[in-house]
Amino acid sequence: MNAELAEALKRAAADVEAAMDALVPVPETLEARVHESMRYSLFAGGKRLRPFLVMASGDLFHVPRAQSVRAAAAIEMIHTYSLIHDDLPCMDDDDLRRGKPTNHRQFDEATAVLAGDALQPKAIEVLLDPATDADREIRIALAMTLVQAAGAEGMVGGQMIDLQAETTSYDLDQISRLQNMKTGALIAWSCEAGAILGHATGAERAALKAYGLDLGLAFQIADDILDIEASPEEMGKATAKDADAGKETFITLMGLDGARARAAELVHNAVARLDLFGERAFLLREVAEYVINRRS
Ligand code: IPE
Ligand code: IPE
Ligand code: MG
Ligand code: MG
Ligand code: MG
Repeated sequence: MNAELAEALKRAAADVEAAMDALVPVPETLEARVHESMRYSLFAGGKRLRPFLVMASGDLFHVPRAQSVRAAAAIEMIHTYSLIHDDLPCMDDDDLRRGKPTNHRQFDEATAVLAGDALQPKAIEVLLDPATDADREIRIALAMTLVQAAGAEGMVGGQMIDLQAETTSYDLDQISRLQNMKTGALIAWSCEAGAILGHATGAERAALKAYGLDLGLAFQIADDILDIEASPEEMGKATAKDADAGKETFITLMGLDGARARAAELVHNAVARLDLFGERAFLLREVAEYVINRRS
């Protein structure tokens, strides 16, 4: 990985973790357990890719880090909730996440459901707080676009299609829709959020969102490839899950080489969207390469 990118990813992770630490304290009250459960998954590790994308996109417009880190914390909370629920016995039934026992294994199913439930409004609360931006319109735009990306028209809708992929045959267009919704929507939001905070032009905002969608799809194809090729130790989660579940993916439809070529093509398209930012978008170009070459 490019050294500058490695440094920037590390800094983004440290910054978003410090912000989340302050935003999700554990009270000394009867309900403390749900806060502990939220924190358990928030601080279990993770690549913090989405927070990095928010802050790197915001940097293009000189958004103060004190503001972009809050949008970064919000998306990491939504992403973490999606993983807690994705791992539940009624979903993917996984025991390992980010190298640690899954939330419902560490706590219990009901607590895991509640921790996921609580992370969603917390994310919106963070966005709507005036500390995120003094301009009310900007705060509303952030919250509105995030709920759209997370809900049934976005991530949740994708999870619904994904569950059905165990028993239904999909064509490439349908698999693309699944992946765009399940993974692309939150990654695209991460890139768009920086533009929203940065008062970007319509063209700049659209370019970042399009970059994020292509990147998100490439990211999910890489996840599906790693599910076959990587070890649980590398990934911090069980692998060979998709095949075991009989799940249709890009790989079942295009083969490994075909899926790899498609991911590379998507990264190429994603990077082309950044042309209007010139050299300033260096880190976003680098991270696109990392997304398909990663081993975890
Ligand atoms: C895992 O996301 C779920 C997918 C969308 C494939 P990440 O691979 O970003 O998970 P963490 O945050 O690094 O644990
Ligand atoms: C889940 O996709 C993506 C989410 C929206 C949570 P996967 O089920 O493939 O994610 P992993 O492989 O468990 O991380
Ligand atoms: Mg899943
Ligand atoms: Mg899963
Ligand atoms: Mg997976």
